[in-house]
Amino acid sequence: MSPTIEITFTLNGMPKRISVDPTLSTLVMLREILGLTGTKYGCGEGECGACTILVDGKSANACLMFAADCDGRAIVTIEGVAIDRSADGLRQAFVDHGGVQCGFCTPGMVVQAKHTLDKQPHADRATIKRGLEGNICRCTGYKKIVDAVAAVSGTNS
Ligand code: FES
Ligand code: FES
Repeated sequence: MSPTIEITFTLNGMPKRISVDPTLSTLVMLREILGLTGTKYGCGEGECGACTILVDGKSANACLMFAADCDGRAIVTIEGVAIDRSADGLRQAFVDHGGVQCGFCTPGMVVQAKHTLDKQPHADRATIKRGLEGNICRCTGYKKIVDAVAAVSGTNS
């Protein structure tokens, strides 16, 4: 077993200091050590987007990131987006447009969509689709998800 290292970071705006195995992924740290199970374990290989989080405001696959690399960063998970009033409209739009079915992809989709809208509040559909291209959904056929994000960005083009 590897010796642990101590890391400090902010998690959904709150300071965190923990000791982790340097080989641990951020995804496993979030789910199994910190109990934040909203971030989903899909492929574990950077292919499905279910584990999308924000790292210093940029989207990232938590399964591909060592927990040690959270040191000094601002990490936001779906639990943080869930209490972010500025994302109220985005979350509701997923419900209103049928963008949530089984829900497994939904946390990653919402976090990725938030990243797109934070960068470009009036993103067009092509930009929204590009932003979501690393996120897989087996249920919705994607259109409803794009409709939801487009409703927030206020564009149908
Ligand atoms: S679990 Fe990370 S991309 Fe699939
Ligand atoms: S809603 Fe089921 S995988 Fe997307």
